[in-house]
This record gives sequence, structure tokens and C-alpha cells, in this order.
Amino acid sequence: MPKTSILFVCLGNICRSPMAEGIFLKMLQHQDLTAHYDIDSAGLISSHQGELADSRMRFHASKRDYTLTHRSRPVTKADFDRFDLIIGMDDDNIKGLNRLASTQHQKAKIHRMTDFCKILNDTFVPDPYYGGDKGFEHVIDLLEDACQGLLLEISDGSKFPKNSTN
Ligand code: 4NP
Repeated sequence: MPKTSILFVCLGNICRSPMAEGIFLKMLQHQDLTAHYDIDSAGLISSHQGELADSRMRFHASKRDYTLTHRSRPVTKADFDRFDLIIGMDDDNIKGLNRLASTQHQKAKIHRMTDFCKILNDTFVPDPYYGGDKGFEHVIDLLEDACQGLLLEISDGSKFPKNSTN
């Protein structure tokens, strides 16, 4: 059976997108769905390449029982062929992804994380890097809401069919 592949993207790939990856992977594990998905994350800049998620992000993640093991990597043009869905966290991420996409088909894979939220009304996932504890907690609140909504939309098959072609 074809897997649904999802790439979460933020600027540095050390806070928001590895957190989204960690939350989505845990949801899949709880629902015994891991085998049906290919999940990864990446950043629009490469300055943190090879690093684990920011220690503050990992600390707040651990308080909710998430373990983040991803190492930062930059998003590449090849990602637009490999992944079914490419999900950015804010306006700048969406703009950066659109600049990297080569075709309309690739552009159509780009989505905004907060569009999947079912509870919170925020329109972007704010960058917590230069902020404090509250910012990191808010990021996790938003990403938990969005990941739940995303999994629901994929599972009901109406929006993102599993056999979507690249
Ligand atoms: P992220 O946060 O995009 O959520 O990973 C950031 C991490 C690093 C930087 C900016 C945002 N930076 O400028 O190095």
C-alpha cells in the first residue's frame, strides 16, 4: 500500500518543524499507523544542519512526553518529488517553499500548518526562537491541534488520498 509522505517545514528546523514531526509520529504510534506514513521535517536555512532540536524545544517537548531525535537539514528541490504534503509554519515559510517549487503540481503540495487546526484560531505558528517558555508551550498547543486535524483529514480520505501521485 502506498505511504502518505509528509514534510514539515520551518525556518531553522530546530524548533517548530521537528516538534510537529515528533507530535505527528507519536499520534501515528498511538493509532498503530506508523507503517502507512513517511514523516520528516526540514528547514529553509541550513545554519543548524546536523543539530538536534533546540534544547528549549526538547525540554518543553519532554514535559508532554515527546522525544525529539530529528537532526536539522535543509529542504531541497528533491523533497517536492518525494513528499505528498509539504507543510509550512508561517507566511515566510510558505513563500520560501513556493520559491523552491518548480511546477504547479509541486506548489499544490504546499500547505499551512494552522489550516488544519480545529480548536485554535491562529493563522501561523510563531517562531519561538527569540522568545521565552510561553512561546514554546504555545507552539506545542498549536501543533497538537493541527496534527490532530491533519491526521483526521488524511484518514477520512476526502482531502488527501493515500495514493496521490507525485
Ligand atoms: P524554527 O526556529 O524555524 O522553528 O526552527 C528558528 C530556529 C533558528 C533560527 C530561527 C528560527 N535562526 O535564526 O537561527
